[in-house]
Amino acid sequence: MKIVNIVGTRPNFVKIASLIKEMHRYPDIEPVLVHTGQHYDENMSRVFFEELGIPQPDYDLGVGSGSHTWQTAQVMLALEPLLRDLQPDVVVVVGDVNSTVAAALVTAKLGIPLAHVEAGLRSFDRTMPEEINRVVTDALADYLFTTERSANENLRREGVPDEKIFFVGNVMIDTLLRYRERAVALGMPARYGVQAHDYAVLTLHRPSSVDVPEVLSGILDAVAALQVRLPVLFPVHPRTLQRLADARLLERARSLPNLRLLEPLGYLEFLGLMAQARLVLTDSGGIQEETTILSIPCLTLRENSERPVTISEGTNELVGTSPERILAAAQRRLDQAEMVSDNPLCLMGRDSHYPELWDGRAAERIVRILRERCQRSS
Ligand code: UD1
Repeated sequence: MKIVNIVGTRPNFVKIASLIKEMHRYPDIEPVLVHTGQHYDENMSRVFFEELGIPQPDYDLGVGSGSHTWQTAQVMLALEPLLRDLQPDVVVVVGDVNSTVAAALVTAKLGIPLAHVEAGLRSFDRTMPEEINRVVTDALADYLFTTERSANENLRREGVPDEKIFFVGNVMIDTLLRYRERAVALGMPARYGVQAHDYAVLTLHRPSSVDVPEVLSGILDAVAALQVRLPVLFPVHPRTLQRLADARLLERARSLPNLRLLEPLGYLEFLGLMAQARLVLTDSGGIQEETTILSIPCLTLRENSERPVTISEGTNELVGTSPERILAAAQRRLDQAEMVSDNPLCLMGRDSHYPELWDGRAAERIVRILRERCQRSS
């Protein structure tokens, strides 16, 4: 059984790691890995393959950066002849990035069965490029693997028949659970001269937070006030670095004494930092899920989340992008954390509550279902 797996960006690599590992357990499965090249910098791509033990991609489409349409079209053009050649039994796509939707379109047009891992998530905000990618990919998929029950409901509402929907858990959390101890053992806080459980981590990359200079500047105002209270470590995504420079905010960011601008980090380094933070501020989807498992308070700088279980059962809180709201929420969470800081174990995820099926076995369930359903009939 030949399974072609398509990845393109950092969060895709984290998700595919546990799936590829699981596929390799079966001698009757031939996993093929295709990297679209959407993320290509050393520390946005290769380091993830190394740290997570993902085999070298069998094919690298080398697409790179461009407008969304250009990037999607380039992936489609490069992938079509490859899939024609490979004739897989099923194509697996993960997440919601441009590479995901491009691969879904090509696969469906070639009449090859398509599996979407992390299906059904909806922010109901079509200004998010990822929302368009999710809706289109799910409309084309034959196997829709979901991470939370709200996703099943969304898919049913969109008319996806029940027999295509499989609630399996979260492959990103499979990877986190496998690597958490190794990540913490790196002693990341000490590397940056901060005390464990006494710093905040910030990540930003979404167009809604970084593309409008006034919004970006407002977030920086909140961070400026926050870093007076505790150090803020900020691994900067390349597009965010560019936007800070474009908006002439880079000098200001660099001048804040307790805000540390870092290069993008590898998986283990970032997980090690996040796992021992007192507070995380982010606009990422995956980090909302990871902080939930780590029991680290997470403030999401957005007005909506396609991952509601991280709010109802996790540590996530939506705070938008207004500086006053971000700061008020951060101060409140820090005050709460101080109340339990006499017992650091409380802050280390020992009392975590896991959302349903976020148990480290999602990949196992997915591969079992694919084996049962997509074996060649011959
Ligand atoms: C993409 C995904 C987003 C995901 C994120 C994870 C889409 C629409 N967006 O956003 O959903 O959360 O990945 O990180 O697919 N760049 C580099 N080096 C790289 C990659 C990017 O310098 O290796 C810079 C380029 O200037 C590029 C910009 O970052 O134009 C944006 O990269 P792109 O892949 O288009 O989107 P992301 O913002 O990374």
